[in-house]
Amino acid sequence: MKRLFLILIVSLIFFSSHAEDGYRLWLRYDKINNPVKLESYQKLITDFIIDGESPTLLLARKELEAGLKGLLEQDITHASNKETASLMLTKFSSPRIKQLKLNINPDHISAEGFSIVTTTVNKNKSIMIVAHSDVGLLYGTFHFLKLIQTQSDIDNISFETSPKIKHRILNHWDNLDRTVERGYAGFSLWDWHKLPDYIDPRYHDYARANASIGINGTVLTNVNANAQILTEQYLEKVAALANIFRPYGIKVYLTARFSAPVEIGKLTTADPLDTEVRQWWKNKIDEIYQHVPDFGGFVVKANSEGQPGPQNYKRNHADGANMLAEALAPHNGIVMWRAFVYDNEVPIDRVKQAQNEFKPLDGSFKSNVLVQVKNGPLDFQPREPFHPLFGAMPKTPLIMEFQITQEYLGFATHLVYLAPLFKECLDSDTYTKGKGSTVSKVIDGSLDNHTLTGIAGVANIGNDRNWTGHIFGQSNWYAFGRLAWDHQLTSEQIAEEWIRMTLSNEASIVDKLKKMMMGSREIAVQYMTPLGLHHIMGWNHHYGPGPWIKDKPRADWTSVYYHQAEQNGIGFNRTTTGSNALEQYSKPVQEIYGSLEKCPEEFLLWFHHVKWDHKMKSGRTLWDELCLKYYQGADSVRWMKNEWNSLQGKIDEERFNHVNGFLNIQHKEALLWRNSCVLYFQTFSKKEIPEGLEKPDKPLAYYEALEFPFAPGIKPRW
Ligand code: GCU
Repeated sequence: MKRLFLILIVSLIFFSSHAEDGYRLWLRYDKINNPVKLESYQKLITDFIIDGESPTLLLARKELEAGLKGLLEQDITHASNKETASLMLTKFSSPRIKQLKLNINPDHISAEGFSIVTTTVNKNKSIMIVAHSDVGLLYGTFHFLKLIQTQSDIDNISFETSPKIKHRILNHWDNLDRTVERGYAGFSLWDWHKLPDYIDPRYHDYARANASIGINGTVLTNVNANAQILTEQYLEKVAALANIFRPYGIKVYLTARFSAPVEIGKLTTADPLDTEVRQWWKNKIDEIYQHVPDFGGFVVKANSEGQPGPQNYKRNHADGANMLAEALAPHNGIVMWRAFVYDNEVPIDRVKQAQNEFKPLDGSFKSNVLVQVKNGPLDFQPREPFHPLFGAMPKTPLIMEFQITQEYLGFATHLVYLAPLFKECLDSDTYTKGKGSTVSKVIDGSLDNHTLTGIAGVANIGNDRNWTGHIFGQSNWYAFGRLAWDHQLTSEQIAEEWIRMTLSNEASIVDKLKKMMMGSREIAVQYMTPLGLHHIMGWNHHYGPGPWIKDKPRADWTSVYYHQAEQNGIGFNRTTTGSNALEQYSKPVQEIYGSLEKCPEEFLLWFHHVKWDHKMKSGRTLWDELCLKYYQGADSVRWMKNEWNSLQGKIDEERFNHVNGFLNIQHKEALLWRNSCVLYFQTFSKKEIPEGLEKPDKPLAYYEALEFPFAPGIKPRW
């Protein structure tokens, strides 16, 4: 008995130390399993030199040592006593570079960019990683290791890259009690109770993962902000995190609660034009910089969903943003002022409200303010057209806000690869300065000549061992970082990199997974909100379908407000005969979306109220097409399940089972969406579910009565 127990313990230790629990993300560095490749890398890289010393360069060195040891199973250490090596990391300013005649123009590479080139030094082949800054070299190191991880050809490499966007930031919606708003991967990573004295090693791993994809900023706290974070006690903790993140090139930002001067400053007002209030913020900001000398700045959610703001004092958003900007400017801090505003007192289409409030303020923000705009005008729906503010405020730098956490996309249990969603928005043409005025050009500053540029992603990270709840959720963190660096990358390229680093380098597996990932977002749209439907999810927690949601305190928090289904048809008329939200777009965009014929069917019910028997491009009626989409979506999840199942034995058991289990949940929930929506909309269309499609097994009343008290994210507010 004792022996059996011992064996059990030993095997538990053995297996847990080899657990494939996803913790290592895409930075696994397991030995290259292709012997030919392995041998060629082993021959090519025998030693390395890093010119210079700094905490950041030390990280690069550690990364190279660990990476090469794992991937090549060779101890390749820093050859500090040698003149040259097979791999050399150096800066453009170094004497070494002056001697070598490299074919790179340093002026083409920005402060954070880098180049990797093969050259010959003393008749020996050398790979050079060159940058202007230490962090550029760190980014180059990660890129180089990625090339080996993905088994790329590095024989005669000549590559250069610079980030297209300056501020590449994660927004954590983390509360100080460690719950995470719309977070589905456990609790917050930030252990405020134990900071600053205890430094969880995970903080380093978090920063390292971000640095590996070029993320250079993190907003630690929820946009629904708590003023406490600005108190001395908390600032000491914030400083501890900032100290860890600094060598990785990551700046720390906080959310500023507009009423902080009243709540923690004991003032009687937070009016942004009040001298005492302004002085309070100035002092507070000076204090923050004493703790964190390179503090990045603030994100502010003001006068939105109950948050306080300048409008409480009859001031506008620019008054509020500029007050903070003025105090941050001497320290080079920035303000990211959110445009996610809408007011239930305003009786107009919610999607119009942000532009109505912000466009008139174009030109009145200080130069260190960015206006932070969600990708679409509503709220991170599975599909939305691009936000009309993109292109409409040429005098103001706009920072993009994407949501990486899957609030409206099945939480962390649905496999939905988000790069295609991000790309769809980035590639959209605003036509504001003629054809080709894409959203990406708005946010990278090239359209309107802005040098202050940014992109933010609402993080899907928590303290789950695998960081993101779903192993495939990691690909969304990864894709956000990669696109923030270079929005020209394709979703396929990014998926392939991620699969090769995270799951497998075997071509057939890569292909299969890539197909699944590439299809997954459209599949989710089909079983949730096809043909331009939106905001028909469950009340409050936003889990599961809820097209029947009505009679709530606010119309614009209900589903019936958005789908407008009735006996003749369905959809929100946003054309000239309806809310005319379309007028906020430029003329060519209006012409496309405004016409029932030209409007892409994926946006049909977003812009048009359409008759049930409207003839679609397929020749089917709208009703039949709608049903078909729901069924196709749910069927495709079954397809994903089968595809994944075919990989049994080819993917380690632990991650295989994890994804398999989650795909089962996704399939169940896709059926729930399909059945609920089809049955509900049928009560208006009064038409049969097209032949050949199996009928839902339960009546509508069954689905309407379902409750999910366990769904994460139930909040008292809505
Ligand atoms: C959504 C989300 C909220 C969040 C808000 C925001 O409405 O459900 O939890 O606070 O977006 O972006 O501010």
